[in-house]
Amino acid sequence: MNGERAPVPLVPDPDAVVEKALTDYGNHVNEAMARLYRFMGFTTLEWQARGAVITDIYGRDFIDCGSYGVIFHGHSHPRIVAAVREQLDRMAMHGRTLPHKLVADLGRKLAEIAPGDLQYCFFCNSGTEAVEAALKLARAYTRKPGFIATYGAFHGKTFGSLSVSGRELYREPFYPLLPGVKHVPYGDADAIAAAIDEDTAAVILEPIQGEGGVIVPPDDYLPRVRQICDERGVLLILDEVQTGMGRTGRWWACEHWGVVPDIMTTAKALGGGIMPIGAAVAKAPIFSVFNENPYIHSSTFGGNQLAAAAAIAAIDTIREEGLLEQAAAKGEYLMDRLRELQARYPEVLKEVRGKGLLIGLELTKDGHAGVLIAELLERRVIVIHSLNNNRVIRLSPPAVITPEQMDYVLDALAAGLEQAAAVDSQID
Ligand SMILES: Cc1ncc(COP(=O)(O)O)c(C=O)c1O
Repeated sequence: MNGERAPVPLVPDPDAVVEKALTDYGNHVNEAMARLYRFMGFTTLEWQARGAVITDIYGRDFIDCGSYGVIFHGHSHPRIVAAVREQLDRMAMHGRTLPHKLVADLGRKLAEIAPGDLQYCFFCNSGTEAVEAALKLARAYTRKPGFIATYGAFHGKTFGSLSVSGRELYREPFYPLLPGVKHVPYGDADAIAAAIDEDTAAVILEPIQGEGGVIVPPDDYLPRVRQICDERGVLLILDEVQTGMGRTGRWWACEHWGVVPDIMTTAKALGGGIMPIGAAVAKAPIFSVFNENPYIHSSTFGGNQLAAAAAIAAIDTIREEGLLEQAAAKGEYLMDRLRELQARYPEVLKEVRGKGLLIGLELTKDGHAGVLIAELLERRVIVIHSLNNNRVIRLSPPAVITPEQMDYVLDALAAGLEQAAAVDSQID
């Protein structure tokens, strides 16, 4: 694949286009981001993408193991693109006064695949909005103000979701946040039990912490939290924005431990990598507070026809193309091979962990992450850092990644680790 053909630029004078875009970025989007792109050597532009490959403006192919976990079906999956295109040609934007069929179809399909008896879906446009809906639902249902969340958690960056997220760096400039939120260590069910009081509405957790650095909890954690919530009359919200829709080899990561939440959030891969869409899905009694008054919480664009068409096709594609099975098997292959690399480069790679195609590589020093990400990019492999953990880089390739592409990624990682090991003594 990579390197087999000489890249052909996809536009005339790509250097000028890149320079103009980075300058405009710096002047009008974000100065520090533009500086970071240049510093990391990202002096290019992504231009087109198919499957596991992003092609840049110079015509160079990169294997995409990043995309913040959004790309599970592969880029531009033809079936999902066709579903959205068909709707686009017929009616692009909903009027919202009359009902439309697709949101109803999607609600039914999402309820079908959701864990246990989760039945009602509130549709929105992003992960953070899904979390906001879940928090509001929990408060309105319980009429209590408090939430218990975990250190290292990432639930989004609007005020409510930021309040239950767990990294000070992103929280402190925006104080005061939502009152009544207590943070406890992730993976410690006793700490949750101790933190619950008469004001607690809900416990909110990621079944596996994604941005926290792919932290897989002990096997008894979620079942024990479920039991504690039941005994104490507190709701359990599971945030499956990153882990859901097949990423870990099951529809939802909570299925690995047989736990059904009261409210679940989803986004990222829900739109099949084509449209942004999120949802909070809840048990009927809890959703009754939204069912009584549909305008108590709403969104102009939430559940729009294009997003709904994409999500329906995304669910059908996972089912019909066996993407859950593929994610589980490919994740196992990658994890086995990565553990061999860990044994070869223990001075750089401390631990390999994850489930399915959500894989974290914990490095021995923060500085190794930058070296490795830049080295991998040089070798045309895209990975991502973790927002709440500088020492962990993440691999989240699509389920359609091919065996050859996986081996290419592993070879690039081996070379990157070799390079990081060579400069180890200069890194703190
Ligand atoms: C678990 C989790 N929840 C919520 C969010 C926020 O999603 P969004 O960036 O779409 O608002 C993320 C994003 O990474 C996430 O990983």
